[in-house]
Amino acid sequence: MRRTAWITPLSVLAFAGLTTVACQSQDAQQQQQPPAATPQAQAPQQQQQQPGASVELPPGVTQEMVAQGQQIFASTGLCFTCHGPNAKGMPGLGPDLTDNQWLNIDGSYDAIVEVIKTGVAQPKQAASPMPPMGGAQLTDEQVRAVAAYVYALSHGGA
Ligand code: HEC
Repeated sequence: MRRTAWITPLSVLAFAGLTTVACQSQDAQQQQQPPAATPQAQAPQQQQQQPGASVELPPGVTQEMVAQGQQIFASTGLCFTCHGPNAKGMPGLGPDLTDNQWLNIDGSYDAIVEVIKTGVAQPKQAASPMPPMGGAQLTDEQVRAVAAYVYALSHGGA
């Protein structure tokens, strides 16, 4: 009789434990629904994937370069680490590149290429400098592509 007295509370506990687990996994499933919907939430960003579409690009600059530059900006170019993933700038680190206000250059395509190559040793506002090519290793072609992207953004293509 002593044993049954123990078993009952134990099995109640075990049952309660199981129900809790069941409830939790339901919760977990519900919580997983929002991530599943994320691709839809990102759809508007994908529309931005052609920042240069409505911009008159300088001679020698193509839509393909803008698209390639966007990739570089957000990956190997490291630009996003200081200028933010959408080039909108990060306080103290790197300025907004989507407006047409420039701190160090006149905003022409050639000047953008140049400033990317040389970096900004003495920033006007930021706390620390921009190393040449943002510290990345880019070919001349990649620099021209990422400059095309910055040009497109800052000339109304964002
Ligand atoms: C380590 C941080 C850092 C990285 C990485 C970086 N930049 Fe910069 N960038 C800066 C800073 C700082 C300035 C100068 C801001 C100032 O003068 O106050 C700047 C300036 C610029 C400017 C001129 C803006 C102006 O108004 O004069 C351009 C264009 C630019 N960066 C593009 C890029 C591109 C393209 C990349 C990637 C290849 C890149 N940057 C990577 C920090 C960075």
